[in-house]
Amino acid sequence: MCGIAGYIGEINNPKEVLLKILKNLEYRGYDSAGVAYVQNSNVVYKKSVGELKNLVKLLKSEKAKKGGLGIGHTRWATHGKPSVKNAHPHNVGNVFIVHNGIIENYKEIQDFLEKKGYKFKTDTDTEKVAGLFDYFLKQTKDPFEAFKNTLKMLKGAYAIVAFTKEGDKIFASKLSSPLVLGVGEGEYFLASDALALSDFTKRVVYLQDGDILQIDKLGYKIDHINGNISDRKIENLNELMSKAEKEGFDSYMLKEIYEQPQSIQTSTAGRISKDLKPILGGLTEVEPELKSAKEIHFIAAGTSYNAALAVKHLFDELGLPVFVKLASEAKYDNEKIRENTVAFFISQSGETADTISALERYKKEGALTLGVVNTVASTIARETHAGVYNHAGPEISVASTKAFTSQLSVLFLIYSLFKKLKSTLSDKDKLLLKELLQIPKKLEDTLPSIDKQSLKVAQKIFKKKSMFTLARGELYPIAKEAALKIKEISYIHAEAYPAGELKHGPIALIEKGFPTLYFVGNNLYEKTISNIQEVKARDAQVFSVCFDNMKEIIKISDNIIKIPKLKTATSLIFYASALQLIAYHSAKLKKLNVDKPRNLAKSVTVE
Ligand code: F6R
Repeated sequence: MCGIAGYIGEINNPKEVLLKILKNLEYRGYDSAGVAYVQNSNVVYKKSVGELKNLVKLLKSEKAKKGGLGIGHTRWATHGKPSVKNAHPHNVGNVFIVHNGIIENYKEIQDFLEKKGYKFKTDTDTEKVAGLFDYFLKQTKDPFEAFKNTLKMLKGAYAIVAFTKEGDKIFASKLSSPLVLGVGEGEYFLASDALALSDFTKRVVYLQDGDILQIDKLGYKIDHINGNISDRKIENLNELMSKAEKEGFDSYMLKEIYEQPQSIQTSTAGRISKDLKPILGGLTEVEPELKSAKEIHFIAAGTSYNAALAVKHLFDELGLPVFVKLASEAKYDNEKIRENTVAFFISQSGETADTISALERYKKEGALTLGVVNTVASTIARETHAGVYNHAGPEISVASTKAFTSQLSVLFLIYSLFKKLKSTLSDKDKLLLKELLQIPKKLEDTLPSIDKQSLKVAQKIFKKKSMFTLARGELYPIAKEAALKIKEISYIHAEAYPAGELKHGPIALIEKGFPTLYFVGNNLYEKTISNIQEVKARDAQVFSVCFDNMKEIIKISDNIIKIPKLKTATSLIFYASALQLIAYHSAKLKKLNVDKPRNLAKSVTVE
């Protein structure tokens, strides 16, 4: 949540660099934005509400000159409504500051500073941090010491970038929120993620918790809050981190849906041998622990959680207890983490605060922690004992699509690895891998027709206020993902139910024309037909995503989306594409911003 940017150097002009980095970070929050930069001892300080383009307009009349320093921010509100007043940067006295995270003891700091005569104008926690920095600056006259003293008083999570009115140095630090330093030739950049810097440099330093960075035009030094000097190595951004563009699609979401044949191909490339066995280099070292695993836990949030739920049925075949936990709960439940627990942390961004917190707990309590992560070198990728990258490429749209299907693909491989280590791969297991290899081509061939059929369903639901998404057994997580996606980008209240459960209460909502969206597979087929008949008898509208040979379903549904018949769990990928396209078209028909739904942000870096 929130994107932060920084620049210092003589080569580029701060206004343009900051706006470019913020554009790359806008997926992290877009309810307001601002910059503060210094050129020839003048501070340019501008903030605006809404998307970044409003800030760009506001800065149009400011002449762009080379050289100087500055900071910028694109916000997802935590403390205080989106407004110009609450937008970052915040300025108190001599200090300008941007912040991502939550300062839990801001009230204490406010009380302390008010006693010293400080008056605050905003509802934010960040302004109080700016006040504290200014207070210590007055006491010590040494900006680095003042910054360090400030950090020592903070409780919570933060990535902070700041400068003082002297305007010759930038100070930065992080705790549980990401911050990356970009190292150019005679210039330095800061951003919440490395990809956002790729227009300027491929050489980055991932700052670690407690690092305190000071940069001037000659260079940078990194100390640590506990007094040591930190020696952080410069890493090269790899090819996978190349910039993502819309490439002719009307939105990143549609582009990413259509990228799925390719992203599934890269997720599985080199990971299935000719004789249909899984090869997962990232897990080779921990194979003995996987072999002796007594329990498997999956921990994730949102769509990544639904991916874990969707493969639970498969993992249950291993005969071990399998738990799927919401990250926001997993840190705090009372369940004992038993010996030989293997815990997977699934995350597109690798920066989700809830998932990171749960990871800390599992590590502390002795589990083997493994990442299934898309973003290279992100916090979860670095903090887990080992893991598997998704290699789905950058996902920019806030609604996760290609990351979901690539998570499913990687989880199929992980299941196969467990099976191989614990017993042997059955013919059915080999068929799973065989079908997985066929998915990219099959999906590429069928996406256009799934798209057309999804549009027809969307045309019938987009004006509705609420609906049910329904399925039985292993497809229920797909109904959950459909409800999540439809809610988050189409703003229709979609509620997921196991189809057999509707008659125990929720069926009371069914009346003429009430939309119901079913995902139908071979499992419990007859029973699903009966469940559909129950809502049909009450005049509900019925839409079904089903195999192209399911005649009865086709007959009793108002509209159907046909997907190719596959024999294994790989068919989940086709159901997923259909639900994504229904949500996409519904949002489009409502003329909503599909890439930036209201109140959301791509990376949720607060608990
Ligand atoms: C929904 C969506 C979110 C994320 C969730 C976890 O479309 O994108 O529900 O799935 O915030 O994010 P990651 O996977 O980055 O941990």
